Amino acid sequence: MQEVFHLIAQVAKSNANVLLLGESGTGKELVANAIHYNSLRAGKPLIKVNCAALPANLVEAELFGYERGAFTGATRSKEGKFELANGGTVFLDEIGSLAMDAQGKLLRVLQEKEVERLGGTRTRKVNIRLIAASNKDLAKEVERGNFREDLFYRLNVYPIYLPPLREREADILLLADYFLEKYAREYSKDIRRISTPAIDAFMQYHWPGNVRELENCIERAVLLCEEQVIHTCHLPPTLQTARDTGTVQSQSLKEAVERFEMDLIIDALKNTRGNMRQAAKALGTTERIFGYKVKKYNINPKQYR
Ligand SMILES: Nc1ncnc2c1ncn2[C@@H]1O[C@H](COP(=O)(O)OP(=O)(O)O)[C@@H](O)[C@H]1O
Ligand SMILES: [Mg+2]
Repeated sequence: MQEVFHLIAQVAKSNANVLLLGESGTGKELVANAIHYNSLRAGKPLIKVNCAALPANLVEAELFGYERGAFTGATRSKEGKFELANGGTVFLDEIGSLAMDAQGKLLRVLQEKEVERLGGTRTRKVNIRLIAASNKDLAKEVERGNFREDLFYRLNVYPIYLPPLREREADILLLADYFLEKYAREYSKDIRRISTPAIDAFMQYHWPGNVRELENCIERAVLLCEEQVIHTCHLPPTLQTARDTGTVQSQSLKEAVERFEMDLIIDALKNTRGNMRQAAKALGTTERIFGYKVKKYNINPKQYR
């Protein structure tokens, strides 16, 4: 993370486009904020668009804007996010989900520094800095033919990789204390510390949802805790099993298989942003069976949105 901070400091004041890579919940959006608010554009807008949150045609309308009559329902013209962000920064989250058509248009914005609204003929000059983020390996997406190579090279000028939380053991402790203080204050509770077994559980857990999951976990524990110390009983069941089955030798076959199954389910949910239908499909099972397992393992799909 020190390396990440160094990279942020180094690039912030320049106008270079930045590509943030890393699993969901590792802090990419936080880094995007840090870059923008430490840049010379800090007084200008930072406009965020999540490319995975909207259907392809709506993403284009959002990004590039449209003229009246461009499509059914376009009863008036609307400026796009690039126009709105003029002088400032655009944060494109989950850029790996951007459709091919939109990728071509984005490349044009980056190269020519101009946008054309959907259904429009006029081009408008825009001065924006782009910060893009992806939890997919974009180089692999290029190989698979899902992402334009030329756009990838344009974006990949200054990549910053955020390591997953499970590879940042010291951060687990620091962040746990930080969130404990934050939520204890927020909920006006006098909670002083986290018990050693609970800390052990944190260290052994693999944190598929990264910092976001840790934050949720601490918030929940603070809400449940009626004393001055957070114990394992205040942690979600997934973490309690992480501690109980920490050493591989002590696992029975059934436990090991269940743990593996749970990991697969969580990974699938992570990849589909908590969409149960898609996750079930990805694992080649039915929604019904998937739903049953999610309940069985006490998994909260909303956590991965
Ligand atoms: N180093 C950190 N310190 C404090 N909070 C963090 C840190 N990294 C991430 N978070 C918090 O974790 C959550 C997820 O971070 P976010 O930037 O949205 O991740 P991503 O964009 O990679 O999914 C947010 O609530 C964010 O504030
Ligand atoms: Mg995010």
